[in-house]
Amino acid sequence: MSAAPRRIVLFPAAVLRRRAAEVTRFDDSLRGLVDEMVRVMREQEGAGLAAPQVGESLRVFVTEARPEEGEALGVHVNPVIEISGDETDLMNEGCLSLPEIRGDIRRPAAVTITSSDLEGRRHARTSDGMIARIWQHEFDHLEGVLIVDRMAPVDRMRARKSLRALERSAGA
Ligand code: CO
Repeated sequence: MSAAPRRIVLFPAAVLRRRAAEVTRFDDSLRGLVDEMVRVMREQEGAGLAAPQVGESLRVFVTEARPEEGEALGVHVNPVIEISGDETDLMNEGCLSLPEIRGDIRRPAAVTITSSDLEGRRHARTSDGMIARIWQHEFDHLEGVLIVDRMAPVDRMRARKSLRALERSAGA
């Protein structure tokens, strides 16, 4: 079964603001979607990609971090994230759906993610590295939350022009 080719969806598309639906069927169409998401993530040189970013409002994301992060290619279906500890980190983030926009975002340093694989089996993993940051960024996409919602006001001000340009090109 070959999946329809997918393209990256840019702000301000409505699908990016919706709470995505639980995946209920672990079938060929889910596998096809995930294959396309991995292809688009690599093509765009991203570290992660959530299904709403290719126009599919489903609770699934993929990640690809450096090997030393311990998770080369991650597929997370119906993820749940739990914060471990009180520590937070401030890190600069970007997003494939918000080209040219970056900002410093404070997030918990260590989290545990529990998610299903493509066969529907649940797995739990804990990290306090870069991958923990990526999990949280991609999880936000499943809730309709974008980096501009979490940026410091000064960064949000700086992003205003780029956001307006994206809105204009979507409206054109
Ligand atoms: Co993103």
